[in-house]
Amino acid sequence: MKTILIVDDELNMQTVLKILFESNGYATLTAPDGVQALDLIDKHQEIDLVVSDYKMPGMDGIALLEEIKLRKPWLPFVLVSAYGTIERAVEAMKLGAVDFITKPFNKELILHTVNRLWQFDKLKRENMALREGQKELALIFRSPPMREIAETLRKIGRISSPVLLTGESGSGKEVIARALHSIYQGEEDLPFISINCPAVPESLLESELFGYKKGAFTGADADFEGKVRVAEGGTLFLDEIGDLPLSIQPKLLRLLENKTIEPLGSTRPIKIRTRIVCATNRNLEQLVEEGTFRRDLFYRINTFHFVIPPLRKRREDIAPLAEYFLDTFVVDFGLDERYLAGPALRTLESYNWPGNVRELKNVIERCVVLSSGSIIEEKDLPPDIKKEDLTDFTPAGDVEFIAGNGRTLHGMEKKVLLSALDACDGNISAAARRLGVTRNTMRYRLKKYGIEPGALPPPGGS
Ligand SMILES: Nc1ncnc2c1ncn2[C@@H]1O[C@H](COP(=O)(O)OP(=O)(O)OP(=O)(O)O)[C@@H](O)[C@H]1O
Ligand SMILES: [Mg+2]
Repeated sequence: MKTILIVDDELNMQTVLKILFESNGYATLTAPDGVQALDLIDKHQEIDLVVSDYKMPGMDGIALLEEIKLRKPWLPFVLVSAYGTIERAVEAMKLGAVDFITKPFNKELILHTVNRLWQFDKLKRENMALREGQKELALIFRSPPMREIAETLRKIGRISSPVLLTGESGSGKEVIARALHSIYQGEEDLPFISINCPAVPESLLESELFGYKKGAFTGADADFEGKVRVAEGGTLFLDEIGDLPLSIQPKLLRLLENKTIEPLGSTRPIKIRTRIVCATNRNLEQLVEEGTFRRDLFYRINTFHFVIPPLRKRREDIAPLAEYFLDTFVVDFGLDERYLAGPALRTLESYNWPGNVRELKNVIERCVVLSSGSIIEEKDLPPDIKKEDLTDFTPAGDVEFIAGNGRTLHGMEKKVLLSALDACDGNISAAARRLGVTRNTMRYRLKKYGIEPGALPPPGGS
């Protein structure tokens, strides 16, 4: 028998849920607040699911979810919250809640939500594991300017010269840095180390980057490698390079010119073979004029300079990006397939996207979480995404991508399909149920990936 922990400060609500679950074959435990809930979770290993209210005195439902993720990340969590707290729902899903239900709720819906959890929780955990460690999956594009960038990326991918990426916030500088790294490493598994320059205090940045020797200063009781050395052989991504303090700039210049570093307290320079990729949304030339960025360093980092156009200047990329994000969120959240209706897509294509691709990704995430049907329509888009006048826009051309971390979307979906089939001994209907999609969808996807269910190795065999 599965055990559900019900967390709610209202006694009434606790009772309603308790009766509902118990009359449907579940055992229950109840807690009036987050603190007592955590206590029960620690004591009762048999808890299979937590259903929690959002608004509670002391620790709210989101804080409880965060605590649970630290202790038992695999424990499924469903958040119940009053109507209108959309942001909360999105936040909860991002934090790893498996579902959320708005109040007042319908009993059928809550039972359905809970029952369907057991069908694919294992797969879902696998998906989560896949998502870990691959923050940026792939660089997707179709527009002529991005194609040109990709072509050059492929040409210079294997050489270790420094690269500078500039462009508005959210335009994809980091995802391009990762794509470049995946070309650089090819079949190998080389480190990609990133550092956000302004995020580290100036006094610590030098040792963070270049390391130190034991005894270099009070408190240095062991050698410390520093990010440059950790990135040895791979890529060092210096984000927001425009904010690199003047005091550190000569050391970076030296690394670029001599390919050596000297950790604090060391007397011998160390040879380094790391590719340096820098990014910024600031105007470096202007910083050079103002005297906050060294001219010699500027010339050195920009051997290859890519200017990433804002999304509104490459609208051809909007549709493939929207579809790509839609697919990944649907898989991540373990939902049924969703589609973007034509008019909704047209609106997305006409909008100006001041927050660029990041904003588009957030909008899609929100739509995926909030839309109830399988089709996302214009009315499901956030109110600030309005259709704007667009003359002469006809997207054309094939969608392309560069996979990040050497993995492909294709590979990921295929893996999920195969593991579902495997878990169901090759039975398509059962696997479809398990993934929460229709049998037809399943067949279509299998065909797309050329998977022949009959050709699977027998269960248990090698
Ligand atoms: N061409 C693309 N294909 C797939 N995903 C993309 C693409 N461009 C951007 N993204 C996604 O959009 C989000 C923002 O991109 P990214 O972090 O690379 O932007 P950025 O230019 O580094 O922004 P900032 O200047 O704010 O750091 C990320 O989640 C990234 O994965
Ligand atoms: Mg960035």
